[in-house]
Amino acid sequence: MQIASEPKGTFRITGEAKLGRVQNKIALITGGASGIGLTTAKLLDDEGAKVVIADLEARREQALAGVGTAVTFQALDVTSEDAWAATMDMLVRDHGGLDVLVNNAGVALLKDIEATGIDEWRRLMAVNVDGVFLGCKHAIGVMKSRGGGSIINISSAAGIVGDGNLAAYSASKGAVRLLTKSVALHCARKGYNIRCNSVHPSFVQSPMLEAMIGQASDPARMRTAYAAAAPLGRLAQPIDVAQMILFLASDESAFTTGAEMLVDGGLTAG
Ligand SMILES: NC(=O)c1ccc[n+]([C@@H]2O[C@H](COP(=O)([O-])OP(=O)(O)OC[C@H]3O[C@@H](n4cnc5c(N)ncnc54)[C@H](O)[C@@H]3O)[C@@H](O)[C@H]2O)c1
Repeated sequence: MQIASEPKGTFRITGEAKLGRVQNKIALITGGASGIGLTTAKLLDDEGAKVVIADLEARREQALAGVGTAVTFQALDVTSEDAWAATMDMLVRDHGGLDVLVNNAGVALLKDIEATGIDEWRRLMAVNVDGVFLGCKHAIGVMKSRGGGSIINISSAAGIVGDGNLAAYSASKGAVRLLTKSVALHCARKGYNIRCNSVHPSFVQSPMLEAMIGQASDPARMRTAYAAAAPLGRLAQPIDVAQMILFLASDESAFTTGAEMLVDGGLTAG
């Protein structure tokens, strides 16, 4: 086994003795067709998990292109409770249950409080907050009967410190941060052996960020500002976040619950 250096300070374990850090775990990743979710799907697949990507039906082809043949797709609009119930039924029927849920699906809105309309606010909250609430609620039932599990909620550095240009988004990610702790405490007190943690990336080079940069009046300046916002001086890459998710999905994090895991290059440290 060797540890190979890769660009941007990341590393991968390579060679014949590669460890399956989530070997045989059944993992559902919402919003798994793109960006952080897609990179996480590939990493967990690589590390031995049985991965199900859950995303909007329109994303099916995009999701399955470039992932291993063992990865499957489930159409899921995270705002629909019926769709969550059907997804859990499918997981029990086709895979035997669920060990890891990554509540990653999310949308952004680059608007301050004065510019944000109530319909935009409600739409964003439906995906970013209702979606995570429904995911946690439905996963607990299935994980309980399997003897435990790990729920990983993707929040943001904007859920730790406010961003004046992301009114609804910051509010939604703050809600995810504290919902996570509530779920973690409930599951611990009940003795379910279900852990729940949140992940807080700074600006990640993904389709979501590219869309936000594209809307700016001066995109080049905005890209530079986003990269400079982190003391480590660069944008996060999806793999930076996926590596944290892998840790939380694995048994290496067995004593970690209710935690807010920063992947922000030091952005919130000062
Ligand atoms: N990119 C960043 O800078 C950044 C920073 C911090 C946190 N995050 C968070 O990370 C997560 C992933 O973001 P990304 O940057 O990879 O974005 P992305 O836009 O590349 O991917 C988001 C995915 O969510 C899916 N999605 C949207 N609405 C959905 C719905 N109703 N049901 C199911 N799936 C839905 C999309 O189809 C897409 O595949 C989000 O929760 C985001 O808020 C992103």
